[in-house]
Amino acid sequence: MLPYNIDHVAIAVADLDEAVQRFGELYGVAVQRREVVAEQGVEEAMLAIGGSHVQLLAPLAPDTPVGRFLDRRGEGLHHVAFAVFDIEAALEHLRSTGARLIDDEPRIGGGGHRIAFVHPSSFSGTLIELVEVEVDGA
Ligand code: CO
Repeated sequence: MLPYNIDHVAIAVADLDEAVQRFGELYGVAVQRREVVAEQGVEEAMLAIGGSHVQLLAPLAPDTPVGRFLDRRGEGLHHVAFAVFDIEAALEHLRSTGARLIDDEPRIGGGGHRIAFVHPSSFSGTLIELVEVEVDGA
């Protein structure tokens, strides 16, 4: 039930192509997976760094959560994602501690993983995503 790892740190960006190129030039990291997640209104690019990832997130339209985030705050840290083996157990644990869940039930996120978001008010102002991973970390 405890987080197994940091799955990714997500950064909201205005222009995904430009950000992917810049991260490649600055840090020498390459895109491992890039995909449109229409349900969340984003296109995301996962850059592998060690056993974890930086996720660059660009809105598909201004009137989406990430679009509004960029409008209010500009580019920057959007959320931190914890990898868990059993997302239902993790949600149940958080619920039992009084955490404020954005998603009561898991939904499907990027890479086909089951995910759920926890409200920033429960994590010192940081939006937290739970990502269910296989035991081997895939
Ligand atoms: Co994420």
